Amino acid sequence: MYERPHVSKHLEFPASFTWGSATSSYQIEGAIDADGRVPSIWDTFAATPGNVQDGSSGAEACDHYHRYPEDVALMRELGLQAYRFSIAWPRIISDAKGTVNPAGLDFYDRLVDELLSKGIRPLPTLYHWDLPQYLEDLDGWVNRDTAYRFADYTEAVVGRLGDRIDTWATLNEPFVSANHGYVTGEHAPGRTSMSDGMSASHHLLLAHGLAGQRIRDLAPDADLAIVISFTPVETASDSEDDRIAALHQENLENRWYSDPVGGLGYPQETADFYEWDQSEVHDGDLDIISAPIDLLGINFYSRSIVSANGAEREPFPQNTMGWEIHPPSLGRLLRWLHNRYAFPAMMITENGCPMPDDIRDDERVIDDERVAYIREHLVEVHGAIQDGVPMVGYLVWSMFDNFEWAWGYGPRFGIVEVDYETQKRTPKKSALWFSETIANNGFSVGEA
Ligand code: FCB
Repeated sequence: MYERPHVSKHLEFPASFTWGSATSSYQIEGAIDADGRVPSIWDTFAATPGNVQDGSSGAEACDHYHRYPEDVALMRELGLQAYRFSIAWPRIISDAKGTVNPAGLDFYDRLVDELLSKGIRPLPTLYHWDLPQYLEDLDGWVNRDTAYRFADYTEAVVGRLGDRIDTWATLNEPFVSANHGYVTGEHAPGRTSMSDGMSASHHLLLAHGLAGQRIRDLAPDADLAIVISFTPVETASDSEDDRIAALHQENLENRWYSDPVGGLGYPQETADFYEWDQSEVHDGDLDIISAPIDLLGINFYSRSIVSANGAEREPFPQNTMGWEIHPPSLGRLLRWLHNRYAFPAMMITENGCPMPDDIRDDERVIDDERVAYIREHLVEVHGAIQDGVPMVGYLVWSMFDNFEWAWGYGPRFGIVEVDYETQKRTPKKSALWFSETIANNGFSVGEA
């Protein structure tokens, strides 16, 4: 019988490629009352029964606020080159008048210094969904003024940390902020109005643009980025109804933010479909929003198969949150993004998966499925680089198991396990695999 030869090949990434992990403030920090932090919309939202599946909140989370030296030491041990975290606006600005809280800035100052002292590149994101509650009380992202408040907050942060940061990301996933927060109500602040969602989406983008101006002024040498989520859409059938449903979902989820940032404006047919008159879009806004960025951060988890009546095609394997695992969609997405926008550089700022994590030896979680997920997505990133797509890094979501928003602590995304009773951190098998991959700047793929 014919036997296929053993083929194995090392996928080598570019020498300058950046490897790291990501988290966000509300999901890991805890310490919600420490050093003058004021409530965020997530404190309020999580306090209402029924909003978070297990009734939990980020009040304690991974207690990273107090344990960051140990956490950074672990990143160093694993050989991570970069760490993406977010800054909590409610720690920095205390009230609607814009009072700056130096003790809040001190925390990020210490974190950044700790990272740098361990040779790890700090990659901050200014907004990962924890809007100060006092701004939501003034209508949140539906109020245009929130965009200006965001620019002021940005100025306070960049003024303090700007001498040590080479890349600033403004927003994390504005689609999720606007859609889950204002349209479906699954996330804080839990509002449910399409027209509020449209307003919020524009004000978020304006906030990105206005903050970008402050970053350019205060830190002219730094790179400017925005982090956008992409969930490629496929049509369940060729029927006209399915095609239309897929078109609008594609526009809302995958083009609504990158098109205006890329200078293409809002997808008009979908604005019309939802009868959005764009009265929030003032003269000059689209120029502010489309000022050049240096880096697009891409968060990728899954794809969607869309039909008009909700019936779905047989899905591929899913993770524990029901998200389809479909690595080839990432490769296609990266080529599409590059062809459509030609941003100077792109980075995977989140990619990862929750798995049952129920297989373990005495010491650690043996999460072979997570290893496979990360590896298969990295194969796609590598392929895109071979085709000339300027991918400059890959950050795994997440460094730690953490508070997964409306799902609470059920889904575990970490490459490091967190025991929430004892706060003990234990690297999973995926962390060790990732560490080895970083050390080799790639990995071998092959078939036996
Ligand atoms: C992304 C979020 C991140 C995390 C992952 C699973 O949408 O940016 O905070 O919850 O999903």
